Amino acid sequence: MLPYEKLDQIVYGGDYNPEQWPKEVWKEDMQMLKDAGIDIVTLNVFSWARLQPNETTYDFSLLDEIMELVRANGMKVCLATSTAVHPAWMAKKYPDILRVNFQGIKRKFGDRHNSCPNSPTYRKYAARLAGKLAEHYKDYDNIVAWHVSNEFGGECYCENCEKEFRVWLQKKYRTIDALNQAWDTAFWGHTFYDWDEIVVPDMRSEHFETDRTTFQGISLDYRRFMSDSMLECYELEEKAIKEVIEDAVVTTNLMGFYKPLDYFKWAKKMDFVSWDNYPSNEDSYAKIAMAHDLMRGIKGGEPFALMEQTPSVTNWLPYNALKRPGVMRLWSYQAVAHGADTVMFFQMRRSIGACEKYHGAVIDHAGSRQARVYKEVAQLGAELKKIGTRTLGMRTKSDIALIMDWDNWWAIEYSAGPSRELKYLNEFGRFYEALRNMNYNVDIVAEDADLTPYKVVIAPVYYMVKGNHDENIRSFVKQGGTFLTTFFSGIAQENDLVTLGGYPGKLRDILGIWVEEEDALPKETQNHFLYRDEIYPAELLCDLIHLEGAVRVDGKGYMEDFYRGMPVITKNSFGEGKAYYLATASNEAFYQTFLKDICEESGVKPVLEVPDGVEVTSRENEKEQVIFILNHNEEESRIMLQAAMQDLISGESYEAGEMLLAGRDVKILVKE
Ligand code: GLA
Ligand code: ZN
Repeated sequence: MLPYEKLDQIVYGGDYNPEQWPKEVWKEDMQMLKDAGIDIVTLNVFSWARLQPNETTYDFSLLDEIMELVRANGMKVCLATSTAVHPAWMAKKYPDILRVNFQGIKRKFGDRHNSCPNSPTYRKYAARLAGKLAEHYKDYDNIVAWHVSNEFGGECYCENCEKEFRVWLQKKYRTIDALNQAWDTAFWGHTFYDWDEIVVPDMRSEHFETDRTTFQGISLDYRRFMSDSMLECYELEEKAIKEVIEDAVVTTNLMGFYKPLDYFKWAKKMDFVSWDNYPSNEDSYAKIAMAHDLMRGIKGGEPFALMEQTPSVTNWLPYNALKRPGVMRLWSYQAVAHGADTVMFFQMRRSIGACEKYHGAVIDHAGSRQARVYKEVAQLGAELKKIGTRTLGMRTKSDIALIMDWDNWWAIEYSAGPSRELKYLNEFGRFYEALRNMNYNVDIVAEDADLTPYKVVIAPVYYMVKGNHDENIRSFVKQGGTFLTTFFSGIAQENDLVTLGGYPGKLRDILGIWVEEEDALPKETQNHFLYRDEIYPAELLCDLIHLEGAVRVDGKGYMEDFYRGMPVITKNSFGEGKAYYLATASNEAFYQTFLKDICEESGVKPVLEVPDGVEVTSRENEKEQVIFILNHNEEESRIMLQAAMQDLISGESYEAGEMLLAGRDVKILVKE
């Protein structure tokens, strides 16, 4: 959890790098930041080389000055451990710290996020630095959180990793026979007789493209191993901090739908989730919302920290368009609407050199208070002060859960067949976005989550059903829940070995169908089907289904090809509940119509019905519920309120009935 006892408003601030600046500007920074309502700075994110100039010397004197400066100015600190870039001297002295890339090329010193997660040197010195920082700053009670490293990510294929991979495999499989079975090494004569024969799966071995492998088993295990390896690095630093400060609150900044790391596992080890939100202007608001909901979902619905967003512009997109006036404010409130208790930026002052000098900042190169961005930041700062603690810690109540799973993401995109166009997040996103666009609250959960609070559970392309997680679904449906899954589900178990006896494997009895074959449609090719008298496209994959107890929900099945007439949507009564199967992919209009029907049938309602482009969510605590209404349109929208409400931002009151919401404006409403 976030350290609520130390917070007196939605925390507002972000990354501040005064070590890049002459001290003359520090004082001015402090004044400008305070005037903008900033109450927290994240310090020390990339300073290892300065903190440890050589193997035996630690020099915290500059950081001391910075820490004193922000303390004297009454600001809170999120203190980073600086371990996301190792010092150049360390790479020279201990080359084992350098990563080897997917092509097998050993990297030299440079860039960032550049340390091998299995390098003994890295692990030793990173943990030591974290411990020393904790020792040195343990009495600063304005430190509200510890920020380990920065955006853990990437991958390594070096010899350290190869060795540790074997150890990881031995722990997992115990015998080489079990491993041979799990990876089905009888195929193409890959049988291993000794653990040392196993090499990392990269372009030198099993891969012929990043996502194309000849052996899914080893490639999947390597992803799991890499995610675990980096998580161990996180834990080593966390432990070093907590050995000194028992009740330290520790996090690291995640990246939303970041494929390489299984964040469900990570979140369990983190005191609270924090993440960096960098959408492009072209992203739909539902797509941004989906990432927020994931970040809330990975820690069982706990509120999270928005650790970074740009106040205005990024530097790493092909076209770095400005956030339009009002968009920074709108997207900040959107984060809060989905469970954030902080609004934080990268960064406070724009740097003068290297690759981020054109990245947006609260204080720009002119250092002007007249700058549009500074003024917008200051306006939001004043609003957040006014809202105070009212929304802190509030939870989101949802009747709908979407099951998301990293193993499935990896396995589906490693799969050779049925279609290279099948991308996990695309399919997942179709369901999420349709629900979001209709303003249902949605939780994103793991397959082993407690499903009892939900009325509807959706598992898009639930390809891999691991262990006995089918039992979780089975008992949910038996007890009256509504379950929905799609094509390419229930096919394989956790090692990507097919579950024999007919698809959808372990889900077959729940769904009451047998999927005999799957037809992959080339891009831009469509079949069609009828649902409630409308014709919709069938795209990507078309399952050929036989009913085994389920009934068809679509009109006449596929309308074309040799499987014309075979069912597209089926519904099975199972125990007290129902299980739906959708045999193909379709368009947004279909998902909205179909999901609305399912929700209505299950007694699930949207938070509020509003015009297109307006987003609504709710959060609540024991005392009250707040409703966030966000107008993503540039034009004014008309909202129908069902009761008299008051806006926490402006203090204005509204009668039940029509309320006008200006373009890009936001209301945070509570009942009068
Ligand atoms: C990431 C990093 C920051 C900064 C921003 C720029 O989120 O954590 O250090 O590089 O990107 O967008
Ligand atoms: Zn390595």
